[in-house]
Amino acid sequence: MAVKPPSEVIAIGRAEKIGDGIVAFLPQGMKAYPASLALLKPPVSQGSPPSDWAIRPQFAQRSTGTRVTVQVPEGADLYGTGEVTGPLRRNGSKITLWNTDNFEYAREDGHQLYQSHPWVLGVRKDGSAFGVLFDSSWRAELDTGQQIVFASSGPPMPVIVIDRASPQAVLQGLAELTGRMPLPPRWALGYQQSRWSYTPDTRVLEVADEFRKRKIPVDVIWMDIDYMDGFRVFTFSPKDFPDPKRLNNALHERGFHSVWMIDPGVKFDPGYAVYDRGTAQDVWVKDAHGSEYHGEVWPGAVAYPDFTMPATRHWWSALYQGFMAQGVDGVWNDMNEPSVFKVLSMTMPDDNWHRGGGELPPGPHLQYHNVYGMLMTRATREGIQTALPDRRPFVLTRANFLGGQRYAATWTGDNASTWNHLKMSIPMSINLGLSGQPFSGPDIGGFSGEATPDLWANWIAVGAFYPFSRGHTIKAPQQKEPWAFGPAVENTARIAIERRYRLLPYLYTLFHDASMDGTPVMQPVFFADPRDPRLRSEEQAFLLGRDLLVVPAWAHQPALPKGIWRKVSLIDGEAGDPYQATLKLRGGAIVPLGRVVQNTNEESLDPLTLLVCLDAHGEAQGRLYEDAGEGYGYRQGNYRLTRYRAQQQGDTVRVSIIGSEGKRTHPARDIVVQVITDDGVFSGKGADSRVSVSLRNPH
Ligand code: NOJ
Repeated sequence: MAVKPPSEVIAIGRAEKIGDGIVAFLPQGMKAYPASLALLKPPVSQGSPPSDWAIRPQFAQRSTGTRVTVQVPEGADLYGTGEVTGPLRRNGSKITLWNTDNFEYAREDGHQLYQSHPWVLGVRKDGSAFGVLFDSSWRAELDTGQQIVFASSGPPMPVIVIDRASPQAVLQGLAELTGRMPLPPRWALGYQQSRWSYTPDTRVLEVADEFRKRKIPVDVIWMDIDYMDGFRVFTFSPKDFPDPKRLNNALHERGFHSVWMIDPGVKFDPGYAVYDRGTAQDVWVKDAHGSEYHGEVWPGAVAYPDFTMPATRHWWSALYQGFMAQGVDGVWNDMNEPSVFKVLSMTMPDDNWHRGGGELPPGPHLQYHNVYGMLMTRATREGIQTALPDRRPFVLTRANFLGGQRYAATWTGDNASTWNHLKMSIPMSINLGLSGQPFSGPDIGGFSGEATPDLWANWIAVGAFYPFSRGHTIKAPQQKEPWAFGPAVENTARIAIERRYRLLPYLYTLFHDASMDGTPVMQPVFFADPRDPRLRSEEQAFLLGRDLLVVPAWAHQPALPKGIWRKVSLIDGEAGDPYQATLKLRGGAIVPLGRVVQNTNEESLDPLTLLVCLDAHGEAQGRLYEDAGEGYGYRQGNYRLTRYRAQQQGDTVRVSIIGSEGKRTHPARDIVVQVITDDGVFSGKGADSRVSVSLRNPH
C-alpha cells in the first residue's frame, strides 16, 4: 500500500459572505483574496456568513501541495467538473485537472481532457443545491466520491461555496462569480461545416455551393490549418489561399460566415514577421534557465507566447487587425493546452517560466498551464473586438478554464466516430453547461475513424440540438458532409438541420438568457424537477431550455418529469424518418418558431409560429428575444423581448402579448398559433398581438 505523505491541517482563516448564499473561505495565513483567473472580479466581503452555514472546506498542507476536503451531504448527487468523459452524475469519479491534447479521449482513460473546471455542483435529495469552487489554476486531482477532495499541487487557495434553493440558482451564483457568455452573433447558432481541411479555396466554395444546391441550411464554413503558409499563424498559403479576402467575399455573397484557425505556437523561423516581432518584443515563454522555450507542433519548432504577460496579450490582440481585415468572421483557437508533440508529457515542462504582470505573479508552468488556453482566447477576443468594434466576436477554443465562457465557445476536441462517443457527448455538453459554459458541442459524426451511414445519421439527428452544432472530421479520405452517406442520410440531415433552423428564435432566446444569468442552454432533465430522484441520472435525453425535451431516437424511454409533455413535429417528413429525435413540449409552455431558411441572414420570422402546449389549467406562457443578431445595439435597448400568454376559454384558445421590453419596434407580421393537444394540433392565424384558435377542428 502506498504511504500517504503526512498532511498538516490548516485552519480556516476567514469566512466571508460575498453574495447571496455565497461564502468565500480563505485558509489561515492568506491575508487577501489572491488574483483569480476564474473570477470576473475580486470578491467583496459583505460580512459574516449565516451562523447555520453548513458546507465548509477543510484545508491541509502536504509535501505535494494542498488538499481540500468537503463533506458531501448524504444522498446528494454531484455534477459539473467541466469537460469530462463518463456519466452525467459524477459521484465516484476522479479526474485530473491538467489540460491535455487527448486524441480519442484515450489517454488516462479520458480522465484528463482539454479543459479544467475546478468546480462541483451538488444537488441534495430535497432539490436544494450547492456548488464548490476551488480557486486555483495549479494542476490538481478532483475526486468526487463520498467526499469531494481537491488535491492541488499548488499552495493553499480560496474555496467558494454557493448554497441556494435549486441547481438553477446555484448556476446563477456561478455566473455572478465567473461571468457569463457574451451574447454571440446569431450566425454562430446556425449549423456549421468543417473538416481538416477544405483546401484549396476553390474546394471551400464547392462545399458551400453544394449546401445551397441541396438546400441544406448552413451558416458557417471552417478553415483548418492547411490554409496557412507552412502552418505559420497569421499567414495564408500563396498557392492554395492566395486571396483570402476574395474567398471571404464570395462566402458572404452565398450567405456564409467563415471561421479560421489560429494556433498558439509561432514557427521558430527568423525572417517570419510574426516570429521576429514577437522576439523583438520578448513575448515568448522561457524555460527554467531563462532561454526561449521551443516545442514541436505542426510547423516544426515553435515558440509559445507567454499569455500571462499583458504585453504579450496586447501584441497578440494586435495581430488580429490585419487578419480580420481579410473578411474573417470568427477565430478557432486550437492546440492551446498547450500541445507539444514528441514529448511524453504532451506539453511544456512544469518548470518553464511565465513572467506574469499586472495582477498575475510570475510562476512556473505548473501554475499557469491550465489557464494558458483561456488567456490566449482572452487576447484573441480582445483583438477581434478592437479590429471589428461593431461586431460580436466569435471565438472557439479547445483548451479553457473555469470562467472561460467569458471569452470563447468550445468544442470537445478529438472524439471518435463511435457509438460510445456519440452517447457520451450528451453528458459532456450538459456538464460543461453545469460548469458555466453554455456554448459547447462535440464534432458531429466523430473526428477520427470512419463513420457508418447509420452512426452519422444518428449523430446529426441529435447534433442539430447541441448548443454548438458543427460537423468536423480528421484528415482522412472519408468525406463527412451531410450528402456523403447517400440520399437517405442526406434527407435525415436536411430534416434535422431544418428542425434546428425552425427552432432558432427559441434557441436565440435561450442564448440571450444564458448571456444574462448563466442559465445553461442544454440542460439535464432533472432541471425540470430537481426533487424527482428518477431524473437525476438521465443522460440520453436532455432539455433545451425549460420547455423542450429532446429524446434521441436511440435512447431508452426516459422517465418524464411530472406534468404534461407532448410530442411536437416541426418539419414535414420528420415523422417517417427513424433517425429523428423525439421533441416534447412542456405543458404550460409557448415556444417561438421561425420558417426554414437556408442561413440566418434570411428573415425567418414572418410568419412567426407559436407552438403552444397548455397546462392542466388551460394556460401557457413563452418568450421571444429579438435583436439585430449582430453588433451592440441591443445594449442600448435596441431589442425586443415579448412575452406571450395562451388561455383556454371553452373551445377557444386566445394568445396575446402580455408584456414587452426594449426599444426595437414591433414588426408587423403574421402569426400562426399551433396548439398541441391529445386530440391533435389546432391552428389559428392572425396579427401578432392577438390570435384565437378554435379547438373544434384539428388539422
Ligand atoms: C486538432 C483539433 O482538435 C482538430 O479539430 C483539428 O482538425 C486539428 N488539430 C488540425 O488543425
